Amino acid sequence: MGRLEGKAALVTGAGSGIGRETARLCAEQGAQVLVADINIDGAEETRRIASADGARVEAVRADVTKPEEVKELVDHAVELFGRLDCAVNTTGIEGALAPVMEYPQESWHAVIAVNLTAVFLGVQYETAQMVRQSGGSIVNVASILGVVGFATAPAYTAAKHGVVGLTRSAALDVATLGVRVNAVCPGFIETPMVTERGVHAVPGSDAYREIAELHPLKRLGQPREIAQAITWLCSDDSSFVTGHTLVADGGYVAQ
Ligand code: NAI
Repeated sequence: MGRLEGKAALVTGAGSGIGRETARLCAEQGAQVLVADINIDGAEETRRIASADGARVEAVRADVTKPEEVKELVDHAVELFGRLDCAVNTTGIEGALAPVMEYPQESWHAVIAVNLTAVFLGVQYETAQMVRQSGGSIVNVASILGVVGFATAPAYTAAKHGVVGLTRSAALDVATLGVRVNAVCPGFIETPMVTERGVHAVPGSDAYREIAELHPLKRLGQPREIAQAITWLCSDDSSFVTGHTLVADGGYVAQ
C-alpha cells in the first residue's frame, strides 16, 4: 500500500524539476494525479513519466497567476477524480539577480505574481474545495529564502517569506475544518532553475561547487528528496502537522 493510496492529487508547476518529481512520487504512492504547468509540453512529459507504471495521471495547461485558470484547474481535478485530497503548489520563477537598489521593478512584479500571488490563488480555491468535502492537505513550496535572506534576491526572498506567512495564516483559517496547510523550504536543488538559469550552477562548474559548499552536507539536493518531504505532508502520516515549515536544505539554515 502506498502512502497516498486512493487519493486525488493536484500538482502545479509539474512540468519540470521539483513539481515533476512530486507528481511522479504521488503516482508511485498510489494517488491519481492532475499535473498542471504553463508549459504544456513539460506537463505532458511529466504525465508520460508518472503514468509509466499504470497510474492515472492527467496533464493540463494552466497559468496559475490567473484567478480564473486556477479556479478551472481545481474544478477540473474534481471533475476528473470526484474530489481533491492533496494539492501541491510548486510554481516558481527565479527572477533577476541584482542588489535591491538596482533591482528591476518588472522582475519584482513578475516574481511576486508567480511565487506569491499564484500560491495564494491556489490555496484559496483548493481550501474552498477541501472544506466542502471536509478534508485535504495542501503543501506550498517555499524555499530556504522563506526563512533567511539572500543578497541579490529581494523579490524572491520577499515572495518566499510571504508563502511561509500565507501558509501559517491559511492553516489557522481551516484548522477546524479538516484541512491542513504546510510549506516545504528546499535548499538549492538540482533542477533547471539552478543548473540552467538563476545562479547557473552547471554540474562540474565552479558555480556548482560554490553552491554545494553553502550547505553543511556539501552538495545540492535532488528533486526526489523534496518530493519525499512533500508527499509525507500530503499523506495521513503527517495528520497532526499543520501550519508547519519543513526545511529540507542539507543544513543550510542551521548555520
Ligand atoms: P523549475 O523551473 O524546474 O520548475 C518550475 C515550473 O513552474 C516550470 O515547469 C514552469 O513552467 C512552471 N511555471 C512557471 N510559471 C508558471 C505559471 N505562471 N503558471 C504555471 N506554471 C508556471 O523549478 P524548480 O526548481 O522545480 O522549482 C519549483 C519550486 O521550488 C519553485 O517554487 C522554486 O522557487 C522552489 N525552490 C526551488 C529551489 C531550487 O534550488 N531548485 C530551492 C528552493 C525552492
